[in-house]
Amino acid sequence: TVLVVDFGAQYAQLIARRVREARVYSEIVPSTMPVAEMLARRPRAVILSGGPASVYAEEAPGIDAALFEAGVPVLGLCYGFQLMAQALGGTVDNTGAREYGATSLSVVRPSSTLFEGTPTEQQVWMSHGDACSAAPSGFTVTAATATVPVAAFENDERRLYGVQYHPEVLHSTFGQQVMEHFLYRGAGIEPSWTTGSIVEEQVAAIRAQIGEGRAICGLSGGVDSAVAAALVNRAIGDRLTCVYVDHGLMREGETEQVEKDFVAATGVRLRVVDASERFLTALAGVSDPEQKRKIIGREFIRVFEQAQAELVAEAGAAGEDVSFLVQGTLYPDVVESGGGTGTANIKSHHNVGGLPEDLEFELVEPLRRLFKDEVRMVGQELGLPEEIVHRQPFPGPGLGIRIVGEVTRERLDLLRQADAIVREELTAAGLDREIWQCPVVLLADVRSVGVQGDGRTYGHPVVLRPVTSEDAMTADWSRLPYDLLARISTRITNEVRDVNRVTLDITSKPPGTIEWE
Ligand code: XMP
Repeated sequence: TVLVVDFGAQYAQLIARRVREARVYSEIVPSTMPVAEMLARRPRAVILSGGPASVYAEEAPGIDAALFEAGVPVLGLCYGFQLMAQALGGTVDNTGAREYGATSLSVVRPSSTLFEGTPTEQQVWMSHGDACSAAPSGFTVTAATATVPVAAFENDERRLYGVQYHPEVLHSTFGQQVMEHFLYRGAGIEPSWTTGSIVEEQVAAIRAQIGEGRAICGLSGGVDSAVAAALVNRAIGDRLTCVYVDHGLMREGETEQVEKDFVAATGVRLRVVDASERFLTALAGVSDPEQKRKIIGREFIRVFEQAQAELVAEAGAAGEDVSFLVQGTLYPDVVESGGGTGTANIKSHHNVGGLPEDLEFELVEPLRRLFKDEVRMVGQELGLPEEIVHRQPFPGPGLGIRIVGEVTRERLDLLRQADAIVREELTAAGLDREIWQCPVVLLADVRSVGVQGDGRTYGHPVVLRPVTSEDAMTADWSRLPYDLLARISTRITNEVRDVNRVTLDITSKPPGTIEWE
């Protein structure tokens, strides 16, 4: 394990990902963790992240200098670099000489461990106020910039390295190489974190946790739950049962994809609950978005819990015990919620006769240590279909929140058709990976005049909402080619009855959200 010590910037996750891209396993720990505890984890190397503080600030988070005496290879980045410089007797000045953004770095020791084989002038990404003006004794200065005399240093004997910039961001052109040089050459780590090894390791861990027990897993159609289920299935076979609730708000072909393709690829035991009638009844007459979401969420939990209880009851009748619940929690969720360890118990209340008042499940979270791209790789390794592995995000409330107005079966059918056309055309144009997602929205309460064939029509508009994004927190509208837009428009207005207008949403997020409701 390589430990990434988080000094409170947004960079720690990125660093951990880059280390994993170098096929070395990494974990993030808070800077408040005592050094003894870090060392107890027997890390192969430690990376100190950047952070927003100045090493001179009153409350600046520090690092116990014992870390540098432990014989563990350390790489300091940005703030971590300055902490290292200060702790080891170098000089860090609060000069006000700021550097932000792309900067040219001059490598002054081309044969150094970190920089060997990279150009002597390279672009790096800087973001700092303080600067190191003298390296600690015993250290060699390996790079500088126009304003910062010590932009990188190393002490090969003690295996301590540091750079002032952020090698983890893509704007640092040779950043990944420099990080790999630290891991492979500086720390002497052999890359071994491969998709195959992740699968093996997780399968063994799941077997150890579940033993001879049984588990259930809720499938949403999304990539996380699918990969989690496939991993658990690989580990315990048909002692896993998956439950998929079809709320009738899915897109065309989605339920079939889970029912057929997913089962074909994994051989998983699947129970599909068709609850569309129930959802539509509950949604009748409702057009307020918040209310729709609440109703869908509430019904979903009820249906899922009921299916769960039935399964547990059936297993119980057969003398079996279902006590594990599989969830597709990812590493960023774990880090963001404080990085707690150990297993959490969730309570599931229900009122099915003959069962205890509340059941307790132990959670199985095989993706807890993985990033999204690793999850997709594992999915591929497990043989899941491309359509599932590279699926674009689709909201839990489904098409229910893409109909502006009341949700009815007829409207769902219209929207499903229009959406299928858009997806088909985007795929045919090879744009699936380029766009983040493309909701299609039916303005069910709006009608506009049109002329189709010989007659006047009074139909509904649909809105195309193609966006590019990295994390859905912010987004921009995608500039789709005009000929593609033209094809989509022609097809929708020709093929979908009652839709006579296709419009394009050209709003970024913020101010607009991705979904319309
Ligand atoms: P917004 O509309 O807030 O959406 O910009 C951001 C991302 O989240 C998805 N989304 C949801 N996903 N349940 C979900 O599982 C929801 O209720 C929900 N609402 C929005 C949306 O598709 C986008 O990817």
